[in-house]
Amino acid sequence: MEGSAFSAPICCYLIWLFFVCSSLVLLRSAATDADLLQDFCVAELQSSVRVNGFPCKNVADVQGQDFVFSGLAHAGNTSLSLTGVARTPASVLQFPGLNTQGISMVRADFAPGGLNVPHLHPRASELAFILEGTFYAGFITTSNKLYTQTVHKGDLLIIPRGLVHFQLNIGSTPGVIMGSLNSQNPGAQLLPVTLFGTDIKDEVLEKAFQLSRKAVEALKTKLTPKS
Ligand SMILES: *[C@@H]1O[C@H](CO)[C@@H](O)[C@H](O)[C@H]1NC(C)=O
Repeated sequence: MEGSAFSAPICCYLIWLFFVCSSLVLLRSAATDADLLQDFCVAELQSSVRVNGFPCKNVADVQGQDFVFSGLAHAGNTSLSLTGVARTPASVLQFPGLNTQGISMVRADFAPGGLNVPHLHPRASELAFILEGTFYAGFITTSNKLYTQTVHKGDLLIIPRGLVHFQLNIGSTPGVIMGSLNSQNPGAQLLPVTLFGTDIKDEVLEKAFQLSRKAVEALKTKLTPKS
């Protein structure tokens, strides 16, 4: 009798423990960059020490300016790109104050008709604010379903982490999109360059895209970044 009276609370405790543990696991897997262990850790980009992120600058040397970045103030030069888009990132590499904060931004300037080519960010979802212009925007899921929408100035667009996406300026004026990303270093793979600008053997690209060698070589010539 005493035994069963005792086992009920233990059972409740075990059920409670199970729910606490599983919600902790869910919380952990929903996060992207690791949680903060201190107020800040301004990146010491030149350090030869390698960790997951960057080591912290000596706190005694940290100043107010470490928490400000002015690199997004001006439009990028859209005529330097094949597709009329200039992307200006503000990730930890440009803005060391972002180190360990799990957040960054990117500014994309578009010429009229400019295309932000299909690309993905392996480490971040992107919340994109349409600052200027009208765009045909879309992303493709892992089951190859395409979602597209015409977005206008003032709209906010969510692009799920790791999915291929693009924006085409369909207006007759320049456009600007500001993207915020939930990683200090979201990474970007621009598919045309990833596939045709990295010197993959022609045979791979011929078979993958069902193209002639001539077509593959023409694309490689066009898409290999000039250094
Ligand atoms: C943009 O780049 C082009 C091509 O290099 C150059 O001619 C032009 O002066 C640049 N524009 C600005 C505003 O820097």
